[in-house]
Amino acid sequence: MGAGIAEVLARGGLAVVGVEVDRDALERGRGHLESSTGRAVKRGRLTAEAQQEILGRVALTTDFADLGDCDLVIEAVPERLDLKRRVFAELDRVCRADAVLATNTSSLPVTDIAAGTSRPSQVVGVHFFNPAPVMKLVEVIATVLTEPDAVTGVAELVKGLGKTPVTIGDRAGFVANRLLFGYLNGAAAMLESGHATRDDIDTAMKTGAGLPMGPFTLMDLIGLDTCLQVLDAIYAESRDRRHAASPLLRELVTAGLLGRKTGRGFYAYDGVEQAKPDAPDGPRPVVGIVGVGPLADAIAALCDRAGTQVRDSAAELAGCDLVVEAAEDAEAGRALLSAAAQAVKPGTVLAVTSVDGSVIRQAMATGRPADVVGLHLPDPAAPLAEIAATVATAPDVAGRAAELAGRLGLTVVRCRDRAGFIVDALRFPYLNDAAAMLGAGYADADSIDAAMTLGCGYPTGPIADLDRLGPDRAVTVLNALHAETRDPALAPTPLLVEHATAGRPLR
Ligand code: CAA
Repeated sequence: MGAGIAEVLARGGLAVVGVEVDRDALERGRGHLESSTGRAVKRGRLTAEAQQEILGRVALTTDFADLGDCDLVIEAVPERLDLKRRVFAELDRVCRADAVLATNTSSLPVTDIAAGTSRPSQVVGVHFFNPAPVMKLVEVIATVLTEPDAVTGVAELVKGLGKTPVTIGDRAGFVANRLLFGYLNGAAAMLESGHATRDDIDTAMKTGAGLPMGPFTLMDLIGLDTCLQVLDAIYAESRDRRHAASPLLRELVTAGLLGRKTGRGFYAYDGVEQAKPDAPDGPRPVVGIVGVGPLADAIAALCDRAGTQVRDSAAELAGCDLVVEAAEDAEAGRALLSAAAQAVKPGTVLAVTSVDGSVIRQAMATGRPADVVGLHLPDPAAPLAEIAATVATAPDVAGRAAELAGRLGLTVVRCRDRAGFIVDALRFPYLNDAAAMLGAGYADADSIDAAMTLGCGYPTGPIADLDRLGPDRAVTVLNALHAETRDPALAPTPLLVEHATAGRPLR
């Protein structure tokens, strides 16, 4: 991270002094700088001369005294308060009295670090995102002790570097990590519970929610030790058990499997490409749709795009490979599917579209639950199908359902019959947290959205997502998650309920 920040500053034309603890660490830092700028040269984004100029602006040293002339010092040592305090004591001693001291902490209290110096009014947080040269967000953290000039000065400097500053107060996780890490930890808990596999969760969030990386790929990029430290710090403040680090994450860290930087984390980075399963081959399935409404229309449109035949009259269901129940009302859907179950040939897969953990209830009502799966398209515009098997689904039926959905041109992930399947179970608690943050006035809608789009590469921010998906849908899914888990943090936040009731968007 230190090397990434040095690169950002040097690319912005500033002279940089990089301090490391010893010669080996210094050489590693130099290596990071050279390879990161080298990649840009290879991609034609930087000339070799410009690369040399950037590298020439960074002086590397192991002597703190070399920071004596700096206007701003950014500390990026590991996330341990005792270590940060020691570094700040040293900086306080060697730096000019008017120099601003900044910490790139992910989640430790900036106030604690500032209070240990003789210049707390000159101490701020500047939080960069990984990879620092790429991500456009920088959170600028002001404590109750910080002088406004120090904050505006740093925010201006950040703008001058081509990044977007979001200025906020000193709360654990600030905006982006506070929202991101509940979701990442939720993904780890989902994996650990056996609800879905690592690959399916990553695929679901990339393909179904449009995120640039799945949660496990992202945790491996951030570093699992950093993830653990961030979660511990957020949990210490929130006492929300969703922030209590997943035992799996803790185990990987204890084993020294820290992600990309050690060659193994949730994934192995050994240069061996994982074989990708072949796209399912075979004739387009004949699909029956029972029920009417927007969901039925969306499934019909999908079948149309895939060039498959759709049958929606009871008399034609006998010839279908897959019958999808897409009624707007669960009771009507149950009746329609039960009638369809009598009409279809043996081997036809019956799919229920409810995602509140009640596929099993619909399945039992058909009298042939072994043939029933849950089917969810989290975003009709995204090519992802989530297939849920209940305890009664025959194993070959879940496989056949996945194959049929694959032959409709969809990427398929599989999970158990739990509220929200994968995508909604992970995204709505995150959206709820964002609405709660907005409700509490910690940050405004623009800052919250900027934090996630510019800091984490999300295609849209959570407040915009809530308005697109609808506060009423958010409340429905959250109520289902809350009913299933009884976790108070999953109950829809009052601001969301209010907007859903009023039928008004959050913006
Ligand atoms: N260092 C420097 N540049 C890098 C890089 C790295 N480690 N990784 C990628 N890049 C550059 C590439 O050179 C490329 O640049 P150009 O477009 O100029 O050629 C660009 O980024 C895109 O790279 P790729 O095409 O190879 O890969 P991609 O399209 O898959 O994008 C990504 C990679 C930018 C990392 C993208 O997947 C992404 O946005 N992921 C989400 C990252 C994220 O969420 N970061 C925040 C983590 S939380 C955090 O950091 C805070 C904390 O406190 C823990």
